[in-house]
Amino acid sequence: MRTITLPDGTEVACLGQGTWRMGEGRRPQAAEADALRLGLDLGMTLIDTAEMYGEGGAERVVGDAVAGRRAEAFVVSKVYPHNATRAGTVAACERSLQRLRTDRIDLYLLHWRGGVPLAETVAGFGELLKAGKIAAWGVSNLDTEEMEELRGVPGGAACATDQVLYNPQARGVEYDLLPWCGRHGVPVMAYSPVGQGGHLLREPALGAIGKRHSATPAQVAIAWALRQDGVIAIPKAADAGHVRENAAAAAVRLTAQDCAEIDAAFPPPRTKRSLAML
Ligand SMILES: NC(=O)c1ccc[n+]([C@@H]2O[C@H](COP(=O)([O-])OP(=O)(O)OC[C@H]3O[C@@H](n4cnc5c(N)ncnc54)[C@H](OP(=O)(O)O)[C@@H]3O)[C@@H](O)[C@H]2O)c1
Repeated sequence: MRTITLPDGTEVACLGQGTWRMGEGRRPQAAEADALRLGLDLGMTLIDTAEMYGEGGAERVVGDAVAGRRAEAFVVSKVYPHNATRAGTVAACERSLQRLRTDRIDLYLLHWRGGVPLAETVAGFGELLKAGKIAAWGVSNLDTEEMEELRGVPGGAACATDQVLYNPQARGVEYDLLPWCGRHGVPVMAYSPVGQGGHLLREPALGAIGKRHSATPAQVAIAWALRQDGVIAIPKAADAGHVRENAAAAAVRLTAQDCAEIDAAFPPPRTKRSLAML
């Protein structure tokens, strides 16, 4: 599996696993944990979760998945904006650690911007770093101007990622956020890279490109996100077939012709658009 280097020098797999909609009783918890473990076996060692997902349920599934093999996994979780005061961030992280049954979160993110000043949240992250409860911190759903603002707060330059919606149908971030992150050495985590398994996967362009690579539309979408340096993709799959398919997408290399066909079907942004989020 190709790796990406975070600002602190840590190498992480460029292809990870999401967990939104896990731990909500849609499938047995053990089956969801099995899917994540299969993903770990296949090299998708970065696992993304949040206190929001299943109101802690997804973190419990992740806890099951990494039990006995914690060192193999790179666990990312997120604090709700309404919990993201200095003290609230620390308390939320402690609750997440309990559900994850671990003593450290590898990367802890602010889930989206709320009403709490960024400086307070960053101060909370600083306390957690000092206590060894997190190894790095970052943000999610912050647009370029907010990333600039974040850099201006004490300690803000240590931000290790911005996790944003990114797939062929949602590529507004290419206008200025991805270039900004590239210039500042901040890796981007692409969420919903297979368009939540919806109509993106029925788009003829992805099917036609896939045929040339003996790949599925989902694999083409993942390979497209990973075509550039500094991007990590985190598809979520509870189905074992999907997990295998997604892991194999790391080996799909799109050609310039493939990318041109995707540009024709899903034109890149020509003007600034406000950041799309789910
Ligand atoms: N920071 C944020 O605000 C934010 C927002 C959204 C998502 N995220 C993170 O990003 C992760 C991924 O995003 P997402 O869950 O919204 O969407 P996604 O990964 O694009 O799509 C997940 C859906 O697609 C299906 N799927 C997965 N692989 C497939 C394949 N190879 N072929 C066909 N269908 C496939 C899954 O089905 P099965 O589960 O049945 O396999 C699931 O229904 C989330 O789980 C979460 O960790 C973060």
